[in-house]
Amino acid sequence: MTDLKKLLQKCEDVLDKNWNGSFTIPAATLYPHQWSWDAAFIALGNSYGKTDRAIQEIQFLFDAQWKNGMVPHIVFNEKEKTYFPAADFYEITRSPNAPTHIGTSGMTQPPVHAISCYYIHHNSTDKSKTKTFLQNILPKLVNFHRYLLTDRDPEESGLVTILHPWESGEDDSPIWDLPLSKVTFTESELPVFKRLDIVAVEGASETIPSDEEYNKFIYMIEIMKKYNYDEKIMYEKMPFKIKDLLFSSILYIANKYLLKIIDILERPIDNLEKNNQETKINHDLNEEEEETITEYSKFKKEIMQWLARTERNYYRYFLPPYYSKMGRDELSLFLDYDLIANDWIKSKTVSSLMPLSTGLLLQDEAETMVKWLRHSYHCGPGKYCHEPALPSTGLQAEYFSPLTYWRGPVWINMNWLFWLGLLEYGYKKEAEVIREGIFELVQRHGVREYYDPFTGKGLGGKDFSWTAALVIDMIQNPRNKE
Ligand code: SER
Repeated sequence: MTDLKKLLQKCEDVLDKNWNGSFTIPAATLYPHQWSWDAAFIALGNSYGKTDRAIQEIQFLFDAQWKNGMVPHIVFNEKEKTYFPAADFYEITRSPNAPTHIGTSGMTQPPVHAISCYYIHHNSTDKSKTKTFLQNILPKLVNFHRYLLTDRDPEESGLVTILHPWESGEDDSPIWDLPLSKVTFTESELPVFKRLDIVAVEGASETIPSDEEYNKFIYMIEIMKKYNYDEKIMYEKMPFKIKDLLFSSILYIANKYLLKIIDILERPIDNLEKNNQETKINHDLNEEEEETITEYSKFKKEIMQWLARTERNYYRYFLPPYYSKMGRDELSLFLDYDLIANDWIKSKTVSSLMPLSTGLLLQDEAETMVKWLRHSYHCGPGKYCHEPALPSTGLQAEYFSPLTYWRGPVWINMNWLFWLGLLEYGYKKEAEVIREGIFELVQRHGVREYYDPFTGKGLGGKDFSWTAALVIDMIQNPRNKE
């Protein structure tokens, strides 16, 4: 049995250590800047007791939001020199949308933030402070989602197109192998650079993406630069264009959280504000208040349209029609869709299990997902794996590699999402297996970036912030106790 008090302390210490006064770095040396979805997970972890820090984390990130609504996947700290590609490499001033006060990357990452913002308020003891925070952050969150559902979804499918594997967050997942195999370039098109991630993992190059993949990642930034980060041109010309299952699933969940945030803002009072109830209810609305209410209704209408679009198209884009029914056999999975090849990408990865967390599945489909938990392909009762937690790819696939980044290791955020899905569909026992598995992994092998699915050995960044933050959430989350 895990000593939860000790584990909680250990995770809080990691977040404290990685806080730099403005934001929380994901891990020393390897990731010394602010990363977008990391920041969202971290703010969620800090929402339990460290409200100010959680608010600052989100505000710092959104201060770097681009004029077109894009939230960049990295916001750079110019004093840090251990990371490549750094701010100067991205040359974002080529875009009129880019911020001028700070360096950022020129691409985005999954929009987990609305979920964290909701919990910052939900978990706070100063509701009036966090309500003001929600008021200020809501239009920025809506702008971000609108960018994703317009510039990155000209098809109006309610699903997001990514233009670079880094936008998925699952950098070297085998999902990208086939689309990347078609991205070719000559030596002269690749700038001269030195990989610093190899230095940061102390030479353990088997744990990070291969040079071949990494060169393509860098080459694709070069093309984005060449197009001056113009969304229309990039959409037309980028050699990599995928409707991403994980990204779109997270956006759908985050849109539902936007509605919850608006509900909070529309409620004239919270229980904690009861004392002021009379005055608030009785006074006539002034012009500004009326405008705000109209703005909220507009947002609501727009978000409901987004949700409806996603609901209409999710199965169409992500579940190939030759599988007439999800889960009819082992291969009938939700898959990413390659817009250039006009085909589904048939890799077995943990992404295929993420639809559970959207709540879009029918109960019998959820049951099928749960079966995967027990299947030797993803671990299960045969104790094929060291820990009862989902690895990032199928264990029997030819690309499975237990030590390599997104090609096999266990990642905590994917397990956290699946855990939430299990709770949503009422699989409490199974959810507890995952939760305990994660706790055991972190307690025994450290607060690491990812883990060997067989031995549990910790890999990648040490004292990794989102692992700490999500373990805090798994300990403290009220959903656990419901
Ligand atoms: N995850 C990639 C990296 O850290 C891109 O952000 O280099």
